[in-house]
Amino acid sequence: MDAANRLMRRCDELNKCSEEPDCLTRRYGSDALRQAMRLVAGWMADAGLETRRDAAGNLIGRRSSGVAPAKILLLGSHLDSVRDGGKYDGPLGVLTAIAALEPFQDARLPFDVEVYAFADEEGLRFHTAYLGSRAVTGDLDAATLAVRDADGVTVAAAMRAFGGDPDNLDSAARDPATLLGYIEAHIEQGPVLERRNLPVGVVTEIIGQIKQTIVFTGVAGHGGTVPMAMRADALPAAAEYVLAVEKIGRASPGLVATVGKMSVAPGAANVIPGRVELSLDLRHADDAVWRAKARELEAIARDIALERGLTMEISPIMATPGITCDPTLTAVLESAIRTAGVEPLRLVSGAGHDAVPLSKRMPVAMLFVRCQDGVSHNPAESVDPADVTVVITVLTKTIWELAG
Ligand code: HGY
Ligand code: MN
Ligand code: MN
Repeated sequence: MDAANRLMRRCDELNKCSEEPDCLTRRYGSDALRQAMRLVAGWMADAGLETRRDAAGNLIGRRSSGVAPAKILLLGSHLDSVRDGGKYDGPLGVLTAIAALEPFQDARLPFDVEVYAFADEEGLRFHTAYLGSRAVTGDLDAATLAVRDADGVTVAAAMRAFGGDPDNLDSAARDPATLLGYIEAHIEQGPVLERRNLPVGVVTEIIGQIKQTIVFTGVAGHGGTVPMAMRADALPAAAEYVLAVEKIGRASPGLVATVGKMSVAPGAANVIPGRVELSLDLRHADDAVWRAKARELEAIARDIALERGLTMEISPIMATPGITCDPTLTAVLESAIRTAGVEPLRLVSGAGHDAVPLSKRMPVAMLFVRCQDGVSHNPAESVDPADVTVVITVLTKTIWELAG
């Protein structure tokens, strides 16, 4: 259990690497992320890994096989967080990967292993998710590098400031011919394993999703002098839209629909809101369904704006089709789970993970670990050290099985 308890203490230490004093917020390019990467680089080095940073700012710990040329197995997860997040979403996958390599000491493996600590999976700062893992697949295009954060800083500028090199992203892209695949351990962020009283499970697929920004624009005005019938108030329009999102989400089996962000401008108690910006996050196991519901909600937003004499604009942020995990790599994970004395349960992931973009260039597999009450994206996120021991054991056994 001591590897698991050490991992729990390390998650506590990482939890202090935050942009906010009383909660965990760790965005791409922040000093908090730099601090977290420094800690993890030290732990990687302690485990005998050679560390480097790639052009996107990802941290990588490498265990060479000494065989040339050797294929490479990628492990890992992300180190960035959502706002007011939990301490295991991301770090658990990075730290279990490091811990799983330690039992090998000087044992010879027929392949190299590289542990990635991705610099941005959540997309909190730039709203485009997977900046870290998309660098590995060569998918960070000019449009993405030009996206600006709330302060007007572009991804490219933030990458440079974070020690990356946006003009040299080809160096971060990996050649699929050299890779065995990618395995990520992650908290389930749902209630299934806890309900089935299982410590771990395997992921068969990760559902698709679309993210959009919707803006309602009316006319700001004096809250005390403009008669109600003469207003072009953006906020009631936005409220009507939010309720429509909830209604469609509840009415469509298997659909999840979230408006997680809303900003009201100019944002004064005595001013009629002239502009409201909202986020939309729609997901479903069938890509055709979330695409159709996005179209339906776009039409509803247009009707609301027309009805109220406002304008409405929708900007696409990301649309990522669902992916299927590699059956061969997943079967190795399942066999390792059985060897660890657990019956492997297959799960579908409603949450997105770095395995999604990586699946374009390599076989991917995911190991889920039980989290208390299925809570995540919340400081109450919690795992049991005994389950962490199972994760480390399963990852170690998986590497042995891949070594043949
Ligand atoms: O949004 C997600 O599913 C993940 O937490 N980035
Ligand atoms: Mn995550
Ligand atoms: Mn997350």
